[in-house]
Amino acid sequence: MSQAIVITDVSPRDGLQNQAVHLSTQAKLELVRLLQAAGVASVEVASFVSPRAVPQMADAAAVLAGLAAVAPGLRSSVLTPNLKGLERAIEAGAREIAVVLSATETMNQRNINMDLATATAVSEETLRAALAAGIATRAYIAVAVECPFEGLVAPATVVALAERMLAAGASEIVFADTIGAASPAQLRALLQAAAPSIPLERTAVHLHDTRGFGVANAWAALEAGVRRFDASAGGIGGCPFAPGAAGNLATEDLVLLARQSGLDTGISLEGLDAAVAFAEQQLGRPLGGRSLAWHRRKRKPQ
Ligand code: COA
Ligand code: ZN
Repeated sequence: MSQAIVITDVSPRDGLQNQAVHLSTQAKLELVRLLQAAGVASVEVASFVSPRAVPQMADAAAVLAGLAAVAPGLRSSVLTPNLKGLERAIEAGAREIAVVLSATETMNQRNINMDLATATAVSEETLRAALAAGIATRAYIAVAVECPFEGLVAPATVVALAERMLAAGASEIVFADTIGAASPAQLRALLQAAAPSIPLERTAVHLHDTRGFGVANAWAALEAGVRRFDASAGGIGGCPFAPGAAGNLATEDLVLLARQSGLDTGISLEGLDAAVAFAEQQLGRPLGGRSLAWHRRKRKPQ
């Protein structure tokens, strides 16, 4: 295993969308700047959703507007669950968007107020419109292993939805373990089911670390050949509409796993430490994956 892996850090979006403390636009931009300085090449910076549903993301346009000055050359994406979100994102200069389709009826209702059929059609039309506008696209398939409302989801159901997103023009399919309930065996089964129809180079996984399986699941995905991952600096994260969802797989844990496995990420733990320290100061609480705690202990003079 020597091929590099690509990490999209989702801390400014998945991380901040559920926090009691709302960061200022300037603080979000500083977080993104620190992530890029750490070597992160791809960041999900905001979501264009209803400010009533997620007030933490109300300044998405201002975040995009400020990006060029603080993080030139960064690959940045934004979440746009519907055409209205896409229109706002295009107006704000977005170059990559992500749609979010959940694999169950109830999760779509809770998250975006649509039934599964409507959510699928709206995701398709949003992808097509983005494609027509020359914008790169990702498609999340959320609750891809287990739904907090409906329980286990059959891999075939998830793969069928992913195939529809691919056919509608998604450049990347992101299988999301939204509540961090997957085991490595379940994730492997899903990736095996997806392999015949979803090209590996267009497959990403988005993991949460609710039960401490984040790194184990990342390893299962690596063994299955996946090289694209979402993670969040400091492990900040969680969906406000998915009960029990805890933080994302910490970027620093994934970086250390990759490094110790001979895979280059281009990201430094030192740099991530600075980004996480900033987020800790902003949010007023300690953050960080296990590897960051280890890194900090190692650095401290005895
Ligand atoms: N951005 C901003 N406003 C939006 C919007 C978007 N993407 N989509 C719809 N709206 C506005 C409409 O213009 C309308 O405004 P008005 O009341 O001032 O006329 C209002 O929201 C209701 O529109 P409607 O189409 O009926 O949407 P809804 O109430 O069914 O909500 C979503 C649908 C998707 C907008 C909403 O559920 C949402 O934002 N969910 C957040 C999902 C999320 O971020 N989850 C976490 C990450 S996965
Ligand atoms: Zn998530």
